Amino acid sequence: MFKPMLTAFAAVAVTAGGAMTQAASAQDIKIGLVLPYTGIGAELAQQIERGMELYLKLNADAVKPYKITFIKRDSKAPNGAEAKIAVQELLTQEKVDALAGFVYSPDAIGSAPLIAAGNKLAVIENAGTAFITNLAPEFVRTSFTMWQSGYAMGEAAVKNLHAKTAVVAYTDYPPGKDSYQAFKTAFEANGGKVLDAIPAGGPGQVPDFTPFFQRAKDEKPDVLYVFVPAGDHATAAAKTYAALGMREAGIKLIGPGDITQDIKLQGMGAAAVGLITMHHYNADLNNPENKRFVAAWKKAYGADSTPDFMAVGGYDGMAAIVHAAHATKGKMDGAAAVKSLEGWKFNSPQGPIMIDPATRDIVMNEYLDEVVKGSDGKLHMKVIGETKAVKDQCKALGIGRCKK
Ligand code: PHB
Repeated sequence: MFKPMLTAFAAVAVTAGGAMTQAASAQDIKIGLVLPYTGIGAELAQQIERGMELYLKLNADAVKPYKITFIKRDSKAPNGAEAKIAVQELLTQEKVDALAGFVYSPDAIGSAPLIAAGNKLAVIENAGTAFITNLAPEFVRTSFTMWQSGYAMGEAAVKNLHAKTAVVAYTDYPPGKDSYQAFKTAFEANGGKVLDAIPAGGPGQVPDFTPFFQRAKDEKPDVLYVFVPAGDHATAAAKTYAALGMREAGIKLIGPGDITQDIKLQGMGAAAVGLITMHHYNADLNNPENKRFVAAWKKAYGADSTPDFMAVGGYDGMAAIVHAAHATKGKMDGAAAVKSLEGWKFNSPQGPIMIDPATRDIVMNEYLDEVVKGSDGKLHMKVIGETKAVKDQCKALGIGRCKK
């Protein structure tokens, strides 16, 4: 059994052994955080947790009278096995008031039967496979679905980039398959043609992308659409694209914003300039809420640090839980907490968001972004297009397991 890692944001008595001595009152909200604290997703976990912490710090008055405590569990490798054990313990032994986290889709998918049996709100702060919210009525998603970015990019590839042909390369697990299907559906509905779809390794380790991208290069498409999970996969994908001379060969690299994650951008260097992605967030977004968020982030975590879309998924997820705490007067009954979030609106650093009452998925803006080099010598995301209030298209179109 894991030792629970505890972080309290208010006065919660903790003994030397780590056990809580203070009887839980209606004012105490215990959140079970399921994140990959070790292994390939560790920096993604840090982004989400910091986003949640920053919400509590910047909105201390809005949180009152509740005392938020995190009970953290490590979901480790992105295969769902550890996450499932963690969820079981958090619900049955720790008796948490809500669950949050879930970077990788298999972690949310694997835990879904337990969550459906638990009657506790479970806020998905990253995992993007569209059908997940159909697996348990307790799921509410403050992150995104792969269909939101993938479908919008499929349209934009034809309309804005004037592409006629595409090759898709994707990490071979549920969100990758979703991103591919979403892109293909919209790209072909608008007159484009997907020439080939290449499964390119799994999420557990970064593969050598060379053979996959070489195959794509040989097929001479106008664009290469790539989904890889954010983190080290993204850096490797951008670098392989550059190393193979694909830009010089006239092939544009495009994808969801997972491949131009803010924390990875500077490390990609020249390889990233000119990449075009579709996403709901980048740290350069020019709105007052984001300016405040980024400034507070740099103050808290260092001038060279930056939030990214995972951090915002955590920030918005924390805001959702605080809303549910107020709405249920601290009781956090699962059904009541979920109900309170159906139609909930929030002014996020990414722009205005809402939880779709029909799907419990987020509705948000999608931005078409280009990576540019700024006068400060750093890489930035320049918004070159915007679609407002984008819903999950997999459920809107009723595709596969997205059907109700
Ligand atoms: C997912 O597993 O659903 C996932 C992980 C990383 C991403 C996007 C989706 O960047």
